[in-house]
Amino acid sequence: MTEHIQFSDDQNVLLLLDQRYLPNREDTFVCKNTETTIYALQTMVVRGAPAIGVTAAYGCYLATQEVDRDATEWKTQLNQLLDALADARPTAVNLRWAVTVMREAWNAAGDIPLAELASTWLALAKKIHAEDIEINTVMGRHGADLLEDGDTVMTHCNAGALATAGYGTALGVIRGAIDKGKKISVIANETRPFLQGARLTAYELAKDGIPVKVACDNATALLMKKGLVDKVVVGADRIAANGDVANKIGTYGVALLAKAHGVPFYVAAPSSTFDLDTPSGDQIPIEDRTPREVTHIGDHQITPDGVEVFNFAFDITPNELIAGIVTEKGVLAAPFDVAIREMIQHDTPNTSTLG
Ligand code: MRU
Repeated sequence: MTEHIQFSDDQNVLLLLDQRYLPNREDTFVCKNTETTIYALQTMVVRGAPAIGVTAAYGCYLATQEVDRDATEWKTQLNQLLDALADARPTAVNLRWAVTVMREAWNAAGDIPLAELASTWLALAKKIHAEDIEINTVMGRHGADLLEDGDTVMTHCNAGALATAGYGTALGVIRGAIDKGKKISVIANETRPFLQGARLTAYELAKDGIPVKVACDNATALLMKKGLVDKVVVGADRIAANGDVANKIGTYGVALLAKAHGVPFYVAAPSSTFDLDTPSGDQIPIEDRTPREVTHIGDHQITPDGVEVFNFAFDITPNELIAGIVTEKGVLAAPFDVAIREMIQHDTPNTSTLG
């Protein structure tokens, strides 16, 4: 797939494939400053935790292009723009992670002029961008061994190339298994209300020639009962210190059904998605999005005027429902609190009890 996040040095802007119009139109959205970058994040021109992180890193650079370099308070102005970027969406911790990495680089550089900070940040954003693709490829190789030749894998939402800088997390595991010569087919849950599964997962897998069938979200129980699902692999927006996982609304239900039908349920996420400051899923903020995404499909209203709806964008899957967490450093097994701490602090994941 062509790169969907690109920085144009010529135009000094960030170019994003506009995911709101996929699969019907491949439009480019231009981020030229902080405001347009925040708009792109909030309206889901770009979405998926790692892709949000990469975009935010470029957003920090774009912020340097709009502060007044002659003003004595340019640092205050810049910090305000960074705060606004970090708050664009609440659940995916990769957003805050990327802004923190940029801020740490600023602190390390000391009292440098704005122009120097700008070039430091642009180079760093490009590095984060390139590293994300490498991380996903390594993660895919680790996760590939969890899948067997002939498996049908269910996934929820889009945790693919479009949700990252490239290759994907959950879809990276599937691509990794295929790269090792295994035949894998995919069930993409449609993922109401934004339809990331039907629109985006099906789009990128079909483009790569990977067999995919889209299923309504409410078909999961039947498909599992019929024995049509061998494994589930999903991505994550934030993983708490105890291994509880925030991911797209509906993931928790899929995990419960997987448990009931003896289907192994795996999560794939890079280390930037882990949040040791959040002890459990109970403390993860859940984004509450506009009712319009539920009341309408496109411009067509499907609920009666005035009726209220729920639009929580994420849910929490408790760690006890998870068979393993694939990271770029290996596959983590229960007890996840221990394995996660070891991975983040010592680089040596505990894979001993993986079933
Ligand atoms: O609201 P979205 O589309 O940003 O939600 C995305 C997800 O829930 C993904 O599964 C998650 O970010 C992992 S992406 C590799």
